[in-house]
Amino acid sequence: MIIYYSATGNSKWIANQIAKGTSDTAKSLTTLVRQGVTPESLVIKDKIGIVFPVYAWRAPKVVVDYIKRLNIPEGVYKYAIATCGGQAGKTMKYLNKDFPTDAAWSLLMPDNYIRMWDINPKEEMLKKINSSKEKLPKIIDAINNKQHVIDVEEGGWIAPILSGIVNWGFVTFLNSAKGYRTDDTCTGCGVCTTQCVFNNIYLDENNRPVWGDKCNQCGACIHNCPVACIQYKNKTQKRGRYNLYRDYKGDK
Ligand SMILES: Cc1cc2nc3c(=O)[nH]c(=O)nc-3n(C[C@H](O)[C@H](O)[C@H](O)COP(=O)(O)O)c2cc1C
Repeated sequence: MIIYYSATGNSKWIANQIAKGTSDTAKSLTTLVRQGVTPESLVIKDKIGIVFPVYAWRAPKVVVDYIKRLNIPEGVYKYAIATCGGQAGKTMKYLNKDFPTDAAWSLLMPDNYIRMWDINPKEEMLKKINSSKEKLPKIIDAINNKQHVIDVEEGGWIAPILSGIVNWGFVTFLNSAKGYRTDDTCTGCGVCTTQCVFNNIYLDENNRPVWGDKCNQCGACIHNCPVACIQYKNKTQKRGRYNLYRDYKGDK
């Protein structure tokens, strides 16, 4: 079984490619959580993989909280794949405390953190997607042979600082949905309400989305709005939106 968490398709795509190559099934964490499927109820056979985006140089808390409750029988092969826009930092070191892996990889994919900066230019996105695509056969082969591999781009000497104090500041001060709003182009379609792993978005009496308190800044609501009407404060009006499945056709 593969469990993936994905706001804009990068981790979903990687998970689906790995599932194809390893004759496995990929399940969306957001769907599992929204449908009330508990981790304890999942039956894990000979291997379990998790695929997720790096958030502030660590695995998202919602992922860690879910996978640490899985019933994993002795001897099951455990692997993790982190997708990231730049570097993974000490993501895997921290993850190992709750999910000790036999193998771990990081893969560079388009950056989706538009609360802070713009999406990557098209050429850079394609370069990242293609270089990750080239790495997949080797990863699939390693998983099929249950190899012990660690291939993670941590980012050098600064990695412990980024995954330590910087992650703490990020989670403590920035994990909030305050600042999201829609502009006049909102059609009230409600797609945004279906995206959030925390079920944190609902439509008011005028069919406009309202955000509650729980948010890990994943970007699913803002990137997956069909008319790009969601803004974060006054920062995102001129920034692009991204979803791998929407913006890149091809072997998905
Ligand atoms: C809240 C947030 C924090 C992020 N932090 C990092 C980071 O620390 N390092 C990094 O390289 N990329 C970071 N990114 C970029 C994502 O990890 C990257 O774009 C990922 O592939 C998105 O995956 P998804 O499409 O499956 O959601 C961050 C993105 C978000 C939304």
